[in-house]
Amino acid sequence: MVRDATIGDGAAIGALYNATVRTTTVAWTEELESLETRRAWLEEQLAAGNPVLVAELGDRVIGFASYDDFRDSTKWPGYRFTVEHSIHVQAEHQGQRVGSELLGALISRARSAGKHTMIGAIDSENAGSIRFHARHGFVEVARLSEVGFKFGRWLDLVLMECILE
Ligand SMILES: CC(C)(COP(=O)(O)OP(=O)(O)OC[C@H]1O[C@@H](n2cnc3c(N)ncnc32)[C@H](O)[C@@H]1OP(=O)(O)O)[C@@H](O)C(=O)NCCC(=O)NCCS
Repeated sequence: MVRDATIGDGAAIGALYNATVRTTTVAWTEELESLETRRAWLEEQLAAGNPVLVAELGDRVIGFASYDDFRDSTKWPGYRFTVEHSIHVQAEHQGQRVGSELLGALISRARSAGKHTMIGAIDSENAGSIRFHARHGFVEVARLSEVGFKFGRWLDLVLMECILE
């Protein structure tokens, strides 16, 4: 089941995100995120009217998806119809369509909110996510060389774009 997140989902969302930090290059940080940081993010997202969706199995949160401005639209209003999303599914539930449900719901919410373009910024080594996004209509539009650094090496960023209308 996919539903809107509440502040009470902060711990579960933070745990899903932190699970990737130490062992993968999915998120370009080596620091685990605190519960306070994730709760503050959730509060900001909800206050800004940005959707935060969670996928639940029984009473457990096994995935989440959200979006925010691609670039700060309060500073540059021309970007207000473009969002950048993030999506994470718990490792043991990947490949079971949970991500597809979340992304489908997130795209519907973006359309309802009048958004025009959704961008995924993906580590170039994350072949699973690149394939996943391509299956959902995202097209690779850029590959930026050596813009990230983690585990002592440079990382490339793939930008994938989906026009929502
Ligand atoms: C990328 C991700 C969100 C996809 O969600 P998912 O629930 O695993 O994907 P679904 O089951 O809905 O769709 C399956 C498709 O996703 C891709 N995929 C990505 N990771 C996969 C995995 N570990 N197992 C199976 N398929 C995976 C495949 O293309 C697959 O389709 P195919 O088997 O027909 O090629 C999820 O694997 C994930 O959270 N990965 C780790 C975190 C991450 O990379 N987040 C995105 C950052 S940009």
